[in-house]
Amino acid sequence: MNRLNELNLDRPLDMHVHFRQGNMLQVVAPLTAESFAGAIVMPNLVPPIRSLEAVQAYREAILKATQGRNFTPFMTLFFWAYTDAELEAAADQITAIKLYPAGVTTNSEEGIGDLFAARTTLSAMEELGIPLLIHGETHGFVLDREREFLATYDRLAREFPRLKIVMEHITTREAVELLDRHEHLYATVTLHHLLITLDDVAGGLLQPHLFCKPIAKRPEDREALLQAVLQGHPKISFGSDSAPHPLSAKECAGCAAGIFTAPHALPMLAELFDRHQALDKLQGFVSDHPRAIYSVQPAPKTVRLSRTPSVIPPNYGEVIPFRAGQTCAWSIEDIQ
Ligand code: DOR
Ligand code: ZN
Repeated sequence: MNRLNELNLDRPLDMHVHFRQGNMLQVVAPLTAESFAGAIVMPNLVPPIRSLEAVQAYREAILKATQGRNFTPFMTLFFWAYTDAELEAAADQITAIKLYPAGVTTNSEEGIGDLFAARTTLSAMEELGIPLLIHGETHGFVLDREREFLATYDRLAREFPRLKIVMEHITTREAVELLDRHEHLYATVTLHHLLITLDDVAGGLLQPHLFCKPIAKRPEDREALLQAVLQGHPKISFGSDSAPHPLSAKECAGCAAGIFTAPHALPMLAELFDRHQALDKLQGFVSDHPRAIYSVQPAPKTVRLSRTPSVIPPNYGEVIPFRAGQTCAWSIEDIQ
């Protein structure tokens, strides 16, 4: 087979991104909006997005920060014990609701304690067809947190057979296996979990810019994710979990979790898929699968990638990107 030197992506989407607020929003949102047609925007702000007014204000701030770039922000609410009336009012304003178990990651302190205590909210979401996105980690030993949470996904899927459940940023072989056990269970996978293992984070000198939640796991876990994604698993979408923090919060004692991948995500994905002779599967991962799973309709946008080296900038304002200063074998050629 001839090796492709170019690839057109139709309406690429990022189904999990952190835009933050204030100055950080102004720096990072345009970078995603440049190359993606749309993105699911996380609600873990301070305070979290828990009202329709907050959703609308945040959408407007994002549109203002990204204007002229033909980009659709898909909004989310932070999971809470919402009433039926609140959910009915929100249903056409949001794409999904994001659930954080309390305290598992950045700005999740106001997350849920007992998920099954919010049964009426989950039933109403099921009725209204609102997908539930979950940061699936327990408070156990750091390498076991996702595996320990899988029983909760399984129970949820059995108790709410019509609720669309997305296992966010999966990192383990067992999570990939669980995907096929329930028709209405889906997953997102990040770029960094396809590329790094715990060795890259802490095997040599500690690398704060590779520290994230869930933490990168073992080579066999990364391999299971890669195989599922490169084979074009239709229930897996790309979600970068691009999570910017200022340098001062990363290079310090008590480093914040989060890897900033958004600006170079598409060329790096093309490089990875190309290396595995799977470029034909990239369109599904970054657009066709999520459009089918979440029923989203982004405006037309075509991104032309080419096998031309590009250098990842050393920083974007106060934020250091993933693989800063390194060269990627692919680049963005044109955006229409
Ligand atoms: O590494 C992470 N950073 N994981 C998350 O789940 C949250 C994110 C953030 O908001 O910084
Ligand atoms: Zn996230």
